[in-house]
Amino acid sequence: MLGIVTPSFAADAVSGKDIAKRWCASCHLVERDQTTAADQAPPFASLAKTPDFDQNRLAFLLLLPHPNMPNLSLNRSEIADLADYIRSLK
Ligand code: HEC
Repeated sequence: MLGIVTPSFAADAVSGKDIAKRWCASCHLVERDQTTAADQAPPFASLAKTPDFDQNRLAFLLLLPHPNMPNLSLNRSEIADLADYIRSLK
């Protein structure tokens, strides 16, 4: 570490996993060993394979109208953590 803090260094995949399990797992497959989820919700592992997936893309996707999704208000750093975790599923 050179003391340079970039958003991707600051993000924390472990806390991202926590957020995913708490807020997203009722509909999405958020980890490999999870077996049940809603039919239409894409597994996080496939989100991870989206070209250019990163925290900006995730933040954007979360802003789109989302018929079945509760209104979540995640802050920038929570979204960064989530994006980091999702990328780790690739
Ligand atoms: C109540 C169920 C539900 C919950 C909870 C939920 N989602 Fe979703 N989500 C869906 C469904 C259904 C879709 C697909 C349908 C659609 O596109 O509107 C979706 C789509 C998405 C997409 C868009 C995928 C794409 O490529 O367009 C993202 C990103 C996403 N969810 C992230 C999350 C995150 C992050 C959480 C937790 C913070 C979450 N969702 C919680 C139901 C849910």
